[in-house]
Amino acid sequence: MKSLRNQVQAAALAAAPALLLVLGGCIGEKQTDTVQVGYRGVAMEQNYDREEVAANFAKVKIPDPLPPAGESPPGPLPWRNVQVLNDVSPTEFLRTMTAMSTWVAGTGNCAYCHNVANLADDTLPNGKPIYTKLVARRMLQMTRQINGQYPQHVKNTGVTCYTCHLGKPLPNGLWFYTDQTDYLRHYLDRDGARVVSQEMAPRKDGNRSSVKQTEWTYALMINQSKSLGVNCTYCHNSRQFASWTQSPPARVTAYHGILMARDINTNYLAPLQNVYPAVRLGALGDAPKAQCITCHNGNYKPLYGAQMVKHYPALWGRPDWNGVPFKGIGTVSAPDTTPNIAVPAPASTEVKKSAARPATTGSSVGAEPAGGTR
Ligand code: HEC
Ligand code: HEC
Ligand code: HEC
Ligand code: HEC
Repeated sequence: MKSLRNQVQAAALAAAPALLLVLGGCIGEKQTDTVQVGYRGVAMEQNYDREEVAANFAKVKIPDPLPPAGESPPGPLPWRNVQVLNDVSPTEFLRTMTAMSTWVAGTGNCAYCHNVANLADDTLPNGKPIYTKLVARRMLQMTRQINGQYPQHVKNTGVTCYTCHLGKPLPNGLWFYTDQTDYLRHYLDRDGARVVSQEMAPRKDGNRSSVKQTEWTYALMINQSKSLGVNCTYCHNSRQFASWTQSPPARVTAYHGILMARDINTNYLAPLQNVYPAVRLGALGDAPKAQCITCHNGNYKPLYGAQMVKHYPALWGRPDWNGVPFKGIGTVSAPDTTPNIAVPAPASTEVKKSAARPATTGSSVGAEPAGGTR
């Protein structure tokens, strides 16, 4: 017995330096940043492994902005069939077209969206509609809607076509109606993620949420976590998932993200059903729709918060950019010298309420959406 214990002790002693080395190595290499996300004293913190963040960041490719548009020739706009971008100078217009060719088509080829014999046409020489151009026109409106009407979500970071398309025609996270995607309809036409009971005891008129609804809420939440590459505690205090007052501010941002996703799916993406060729549609004939991962691609901020859109006034959709007024028709866009870092958006009072659900007031981060006293 004794000899066995001695043997074990000896082995442990012999292994100790190696063990310490291994542990020491880990402690030495793992550099973690801890960021406080909740109120002071509640120990709600996010840990970021620096190496992991650096590796993920290295994977994100952000195209350099094109050189600023030069002076435009004087006179009225030369276009014949421009319905959205008729408020920017001709040079800025062509600069935006050039950017779109690499952001979406990937190839830099105008022919992806155009009948090159006549750029104004919406049809091919054989009279068939060019669906890519028709879709792109709606995408221009959608991008302006996102940047212009949802400052409470996209802040001054905003989005360009590249945020979703990443240099290819089909973005990530496209979804269609199937049995498996029922919960994703929360991002389209269904409500009711709130399932936690607010009553002490079951009552006749109390919480009627079913097990199925609760499963949908969890599926939705796992979906949001994966889309952003974060844990539940990025948006919740795990001692009370339902409570808004105890949640970090990111949850309110996320709620505006849900309202925005409903808007773009309902009013922009789903109605394109009749424009796409059949091959782009789902099994039930519905158009491809977007979700959180379509913009976020696994990062807590799309493209880690790179402010691409500030270089493209044609996509901004708001009459301000960090206080610099939108240039509009016929003027030269000056080179932008604003640093490439995320800055909080100024409080906007002109935000349209975009869904029937109550929205939070102004940019009141951390406030509780009306209608749920929790
Ligand atoms: C991703 C699709 C897409 C790509 C790629 C694209 N365009 Fe366009 N283009 C459009 C759309 C959409 C319009 C109409 C915009 C509107 O209605 O506001 C348009 C309109 C135009 C017009 C205006 C024609 C008129 O008189 O009505 C010109 C000129 C033009 N594009 C040039 C180009 C050039 C040059 C390229 C290649 C560098 C290019 N486009 C690449 C989608 C595209
Ligand atoms: C919020 C994300 C998002 C943004 C921003 C966005 N798109 Fe899209 N786009 C989509 C989705 C989703 C589809 C559907 C994909 C499909 O066609 O199957 C799509 C499809 C397209 C298509 C058709 C592709 C094909 O071959 O079927 C074109 C062209 C296009 N977008 C152009 C643009 C342009 C130009 C911009 C910028 C002005 C833009 N998109 C911005 C999400 C986005
Ligand atoms: C990106 C932010 C975010 C992340 C990450 C997240 N949630 Fe949520 N959660 C929300 C928002 C926003 C709502 C309210 C949704 C609504 O009202 O439409 C919510 C609602 C809920 C609810 C319903 C509360 C009620 O009132 O009944 C539960 C439960 C929940 N989340 C659990 C989780 C769990 C578990 C995780 C991790 C798997 C998670 N959440 C991750 C933002 C998030
Ligand atoms: C149209 C593109 C787009 C879609 C779709 C989108 N987001 Fe975002 N989201 C953004 C942008 C851009 C930012 C960066 C804003 C900033 O700089 O603070 C952002 C920021 C956030 C943040 C704040 C992150 C932080 O650390 O401050 C959360 C949380 C978030 N999004 C959740 C969601 C959820 C949940 C969904 C799906 C319901 C969603 N987003 C859908 C574009 C999008």
